[in-house]
Amino acid sequence: MAKSCKEIKEKYQFKQDGLYYLTTDDGEVYQTYCDMTTNGGGWTLVASVHENNIYGKCTNGDRWTSTQGNNQNYPAGDGNWVNLATFGTATAATSDDYKNPGYFDIEAEDISVWHVPNNTPLKKWKLDAILQYHTETKFFPKYGGNLQGLFKKLPLAWDTGSCPDNNGPAIPIVYDFGNTEKTSFLYAPSSRSEITPGFIHVRVFSYEKAAYAICSGIKVNLCNTEHYCIGGGGFFPQGDPATCGDFSGFAWDGYGTGTEWSVTKEMLESAVLLFYH
Ligand code: G3P
Ligand code: CA
Ligand code: CA
Repeated sequence: MAKSCKEIKEKYQFKQDGLYYLTTDDGEVYQTYCDMTTNGGGWTLVASVHENNIYGKCTNGDRWTSTQGNNQNYPAGDGNWVNLATFGTATAATSDDYKNPGYFDIEAEDISVWHVPNNTPLKKWKLDAILQYHTETKFFPKYGGNLQGLFKKLPLAWDTGSCPDNNGPAIPIVYDFGNTEKTSFLYAPSSRSEITPGFIHVRVFSYEKAAYAICSGIKVNLCNTEHYCIGGGGFFPQGDPATCGDFSGFAWDGYGTGTEWSVTKEMLESAVLLFYH
């Protein structure tokens, strides 16, 4: 019985990447992917943020924002960043959203993120990832011990703060695959003067006070947040409802064009896998 991949690695010396059974404090058993090799191993996959339809604006599949439409009266959206709901499976983490009980059960120190092309089978995640990076600052204990704890402290709801004053911390990252140049290239050209690659920035607001969960691979300096941050609350005023959804305004200037305010197709069509250590 182990609560995390780190515990499996330390207790039983298992060294293979792949699926393992974990058990929560409540005794719930679930299966997830353990990265047992990158940077010493012991990384537990707890969630994935997947964009199933960039044209669907807070509709089916937008579990990390809202599946109930762009709605000012539903400012926190579906609340999956802080609630106890779980969905999806590890094997389907690149084909749909995923959240397992480890997301709120594991006491973590650091986070790792993989951007993996949609529909990549589990065995090829590591090889096919377009970016892989992790934090090393052990920031989680200061912010509630994991993402659920962090978003309890830094709530995700429209109009509960403004940019940049109320943005959460930007934590520096170390790359396991890719680099700052590649990160910059994957995002939209018009964003490049507003962001600094090499960080994970959490709970960031836009000019219109929409709340975003994670700006992955970058730190934001300005507030056209809809083009470089994902997940968040339930109301996105910019272009109502154009920026409501898990990948928000990633296709503002066309689908995967990589021009003006649109990210590259590679980025738009990759799921964001979140691991704890
Ligand atoms: O986030 C971009 C938006 O605020 C401005 O877009 O198309 O008017 O340049 P646009
Ligand atoms: Ca989704
Ligand atoms: Ca804007």
